[in-house]
Amino acid sequence: VEAITFNRLLPEPGQVDALELIGALEADDSAHPDRPYLIANFVCSADGRATYKGRSGGLGDDGDRAIFHALRERVDAVLAGTTTMRMERYGRILSKAERRVRRAETGRSDEPLACTVTRSGEIPWEIPLFCDADARVVVCSPSEPHVDTEAEVMWEPLDPDDPTPLTTAMRALRRDYDVRLLLCEGGPTLFAGLLAEGLVDELFLTLAPKLAVGDPKAITTGPPLPELQPLQIRWLLERDSSLFVRYAVTS
Ligand SMILES: NC(=O)c1ccc[n+]([C@@H]2O[C@H](COP(=O)([O-])OP(=O)(O)OC[C@H]3O[C@@H](n4cnc5c(N)ncnc54)[C@H](OP(=O)(O)O)[C@@H]3O)[C@@H](O)[C@H]2O)c1
Repeated sequence: VEAITFNRLLPEPGQVDALELIGALEADDSAHPDRPYLIANFVCSADGRATYKGRSGGLGDDGDRAIFHALRERVDAVLAGTTTMRMERYGRILSKAERRVRRAETGRSDEPLACTVTRSGEIPWEIPLFCDADARVVVCSPSEPHVDTEAEVMWEPLDPDDPTPLTTAMRALRRDYDVRLLLCEGGPTLFAGLLAEGLVDELFLTLAPKLAVGDPKAITTGPPLPELQPLQIRWLLERDSSLFVRYAVTS
């Protein structure tokens, strides 16, 4: 995996490497007693679109991919909505052996746990993730999934009448799987739900130097928050005209 360097504009100017920067995230010690420390990672176009022709892949560049993968390598678990998993055809979280080895060298499991939540129980069993014998996936859903998969699937029950299902799911991840640092990769519906339940600690946002028009989807979709959610910049990086902002979600 080649090193990808960024121009750091804030807090102090300099050159930084994505793996080094994210490998050193101090968030580990910040896990809440009853839920993981949660980082959301999104890319959007300069006109605020989270997808182009239905997918997010084309928006990001090498810098975005470097941060995406460095975050995956660093965290205990990766959470994505069922639609995102289906649309982006999720496979195993660390597909490159080199990344798994490097991660294991830091004393972590080879690969982060994959997690998803659903109320309907409609899980995209056909995606490569569930066909991978090495994958471990936590499914939070009202009914127990009964499907033969190559992947190891673990079930966390959700009460269909639970008014805060995501809080319940986050508690289970911390309690039953010792997930301290959790990366949410979207999509906009799940991210909005997590924000509404006050479960997000940081947002990593790539602002792609591209205009998309078309798809109206932003990085959040859902009813408005009761109040505007303030953010604070923790760092700002630039590479090839893309901007990479790390925000703290503040109370
Ligand atoms: N730009 C980016 O960085 C980025 C990142 C990720 C995704 N995307 C794009 O976003 C699109 C998908 O996003 P999306 O917003 O449509 O879907 P999503 O957030 O990926 O998944 C939505 C589904 O997740 C489950 N879910 C969400 N909130 C829940 C809650 N509070 N409790 C229980 N289950 C919950 C529901 O499943 P059930 O319906 O089964 O109950 C819901 O239908 C794709 O086009 C993808 O390419 C963009």
